[in-house]
Amino acid sequence: METKLCSLIGVSKTEYEKYISEAAEIIKSGGLVAFPTETVYGLGASALSGDGAKKIYAAKGRPSDNPLIVHISKVEDIEKYCMPDEKSLALCKKFMPGPITVIMKKKPCIPDEVTAGLDTVAIRCPQDENARAFIEKCGVAIAAPSANTSGRPSPTSAMHVCEDLNGKIEMILDGGECKIGLESTIVRINDGATELLRPGGVTPEELIAVCGKEHFMINPAILQKLSDDQKPVCAGMKYRHYSPRAKVVLVDGETDFDKNRFILQKLKENKNAEKIGVLCFDEDIENELFCGEYVFSLGKRDAFSEQSHLLFARLRDCDKTDVSLIYAKTPPKSGLGLALFNRLIKAAGFDIVFAEHFLRIALTGGIGSGKGVAAKIFSEYGVPTLDTDKLYHSLIGKSSPLAKEISRALGENLLMPDGSLDRKKTAKTVFADKEKLLLLNTVSHKAVRKETLLWMYSQEKNCALVEVPLLWESGMQSDFDKIVCVCADKEARLSRIVARDNCDKETALLRIAAQKDDEFFRANSDFVIENGTSDRNELKKAVSCVYYALFNEEKQG
Ligand code: TXA
Ligand code: MG
Repeated sequence: METKLCSLIGVSKTEYEKYISEAAEIIKSGGLVAFPTETVYGLGASALSGDGAKKIYAAKGRPSDNPLIVHISKVEDIEKYCMPDEKSLALCKKFMPGPITVIMKKKPCIPDEVTAGLDTVAIRCPQDENARAFIEKCGVAIAAPSANTSGRPSPTSAMHVCEDLNGKIEMILDGGECKIGLESTIVRINDGATELLRPGGVTPEELIAVCGKEHFMINPAILQKLSDDQKPVCAGMKYRHYSPRAKVVLVDGETDFDKNRFILQKLKENKNAEKIGVLCFDEDIENELFCGEYVFSLGKRDAFSEQSHLLFARLRDCDKTDVSLIYAKTPPKSGLGLALFNRLIKAAGFDIVFAEHFLRIALTGGIGSGKGVAAKIFSEYGVPTLDTDKLYHSLIGKSSPLAKEISRALGENLLMPDGSLDRKKTAKTVFADKEKLLLLNTVSHKAVRKETLLWMYSQEKNCALVEVPLLWESGMQSDFDKIVCVCADKEARLSRIVARDNCDKETALLRIAAQKDDEFFRANSDFVIENGTSDRNELKKAVSCVYYALFNEEKQG
C-alpha cells in the first residue's frame, strides 16, 4: 500500500480543505489515517467500525485486548457514544477540549473490537485544531491509539509515524510537532472518586483542584509493576510501553548531582566496552559532564513541559545509534513530572536504581574569619576539600584558556608573556569600569563553578567540602546540600589579615567592608563555626561539633 503524506502547515485554505476531505473519505471507506493531536499522533479509523479497529491492531502489531480511545470533535458529542455519570460529565466539561481521556459506560453503537470487549469506552476531545477539523469532517467519532508500532515510543511528528507505519496505512496528515508530546491523561470515576489511570498533560494538581484531595486516587500501575495477583483496569496497562530498542535504566536519587555521579561511575567502569547512552539536561552538557554521540538532552533541568515535548523524540534518536543501554534520570513525581516519570519507568520496564547520596558541603565566611584553618581541620577528619580561591588562581595561571577568555570578554589584552592573566592590569581595568567588573565576575565564576562540580564528581568518597568565599555572589549556593560558615569579630579578623597579608589596618578594613557581613552569613548558613579566639583548640572543638552534626544528621535523615 502506498501511504500518502499530506502537510497541513503552510498550505492554502483550499489545499488544506482538500487534504482534510480526502482523509475523511478514506475513513468513510474503511481505511486508516494518521493525524496530529496536541499529545501524540493518532492512528484513526471510524469508531463505529469493528473492521476499522481490526485494521488498526494489525497495522500497529497491537494485541487486540488493548482498547482504543474514541476521539470526538466537540464535547456535545459525548452522549452519542456513552452514558456518562454526573461526575464524569463534569470532568469532560472542565477539561475538554484538552489532553484528557475519560472512561465511561459505552453505548451499544461502539463495537467490541474498539473497547476490547469492555463495557466502558475511553472518550477524548483533542484541543488541536487540525485534529478537530479532521474528526468533524469525518462526521463520526474516530477510534485512535497512538500512531506507532506497538511497543515503540509514541510518535510526536509525522516523520515518526512514517518510520513505523509507512506502507501500512492510507494517509498521514502532517501537522508538525505535537505540542505536549506525551499521551493524554486517562481518568475514570471509581466509586465516586477520580482515579488516575495514566498521567499526562492534565496534571494531578489540576484534577485535585476540581475533585478534592480526598476524592482523588492514583492507580498503582502508574508507578510500579503490578504483581501477579493485581488485576489491571484494562489489559493495555500491563504491557511494556514506550520502549526504545536499547535497555533503559532509570536512575533515582536524593539530588540530581547524585544521579549524575552514579551515571558517571557506570560510564567509567564500562571503559567503552558497552555503548551506553545518557538522557540528561542542557546544564549537564554545558558543564561538560557528559559529552559524545550517545548523549541526548531533554532540555533544561526544571523545564518539564520541554522535557515532555522531547522525550519520545530523544528515545527514538537513541534508537538510531547503536547504544545497547541508556541511563535516564527520574523527574519529580508531581505536576507534569508524574507523566514523565510514568513514561520513563515504563520505557525502563520498571528497572530503577537508587544512587548513593553524596554530601556536598560549602564552607564560607568573611575574609580573616579562619575558613582555611577550619577546612584543614575538616580534611583531617578525612573530608576531601577544595579552595575555590586557589582553584581560580590555578585556572588563570600559565597558558590559561580562562585568561584568554577574560581578555576576550573585557576587550583588552590582559595576558602575561607566559599566557597567565596579568592580575595587576586586570584589577586596574575593572577598577575603573563597573560593567567590566561584572563581566570578569561572570566569566570567572562560571569557570570556577564548572571545575568545582567536576572536582566533586571525581571524588571517590561520598562527601566533599568546598571553601567558597563568594558563595552567593557566584550563584553556587544551590550546588551544595549544606552551608557552613565561619564567623569572627572584626578585631580578630583585622589582626589576622594584617599579620597574614602584611597590609595596613585601613586596607584590611576596606577588604572586610567589601564583603557580606557575619549577620548575613549566620542567617543563610545551616551551621555556624565561631572563631573569635586565637585558640586553635577552640576552633577544633567547634569544627568537630559541626562535623558530627553533618554526618549524623545525614545518617538519620
Ligand atoms: O493522547 C492520547 O491519548 C493519544 C492520542 C492519539 O489521542 N492516544 C493514545 O492511545 O495514547 P493509546 O492507544 O496509545 O492508549 C490507549 C489506552 C489503552 O492502552 C488503555 O490503557 C486505555 O487507553 N483505555 C482505552 N479504553 C479503555 C477502557 N475502556 N478502560 C480503561 N482504559 C482504557
Ligand atoms: Mg500508545
